[in-house]
Amino acid sequence: MNISERSTTHAAGTPLLLASLRAYLNALQESGLDGIPVSMAGALSAGAAEAAPPAASAAEAELGPESRQPETLEKIRQELGNCQRCGLAKSRKNLVFGAGNPRARLVFVGEGPGADEDLKGEPFVGEVGQVLNRIIAAMELKREDVYLCSVVKCCLPGNRDPETDETAACSPFLQRQIRSIQPEVIVALGSFTADTLLGTREPVAKLRGKFRDYHGIPLMATHHPSLLLRRQKEGNLESFWEVWDDMTQVLRLLKLPVPEKSRKK
Ligand code: URA
Repeated sequence: MNISERSTTHAAGTPLLLASLRAYLNALQESGLDGIPVSMAGALSAGAAEAAPPAASAAEAELGPESRQPETLEKIRQELGNCQRCGLAKSRKNLVFGAGNPRARLVFVGEGPGADEDLKGEPFVGEVGQVLNRIIAAMELKREDVYLCSVVKCCLPGNRDPETDETAACSPFLQRQIRSIQPEVIVALGSFTADTLLGTREPVAKLRGKFRDYHGIPLMATHHPSLLLRRQKEGNLESFWEVWDDMTQVLRLLKLPVPEKSRKK
């Protein structure tokens, strides 16, 4: 399977579904997940309200489950409109919704756009974006293969973390973006992003290196490229290698080739 091919096992019969579920759990185990978190176990059971797809409308029910489509990114973007839901609206030039493949197998989530992204209305286009581009290229992927977005969609003055009310106003749209894309893996960049998605308060140093569960989707937390940039300027490449270790796990889970990289002594 390559990065643009997606599994269609949901259309198969029960034995195939069970086999693919077993393979998926094996792959998760090989990648370092040492158990199914309670939330994920819940997501796999019939009573999982949060992870369950939205209830079918009467028309969908008539047409059968095959007609039930996730909402499109266009619809979510339309609903955001000229968003005024929090104070960030006043200072932004452009809302930065997200970019990339709407059917991506892999989604990268950042904290929020900086000044360059604000100017262009596109995620990860500044100096920090160049670092992320290098990571994506090192994985032998292209930006167009994956999807890039952030917890908040408007520029954060001084690159500060989003405030609680800003996250509360914006993160439901991120959740809907992820539900629309249905990626196989999420990479959460930085502690703020990982904690927002996982509902934790842990530093990325503690969360990284192991897949976590986001509503049944394996999530790898890793260092934010802005930290890599700072460390690089200090001549310290250790965090780069930690990110690379995380990305090799992501590639393995996606059953994609893992390029050889060797640390210079
Ligand atoms: N940091 C983010 O989290 N998102 C961007 O788009 C740019 C920098």
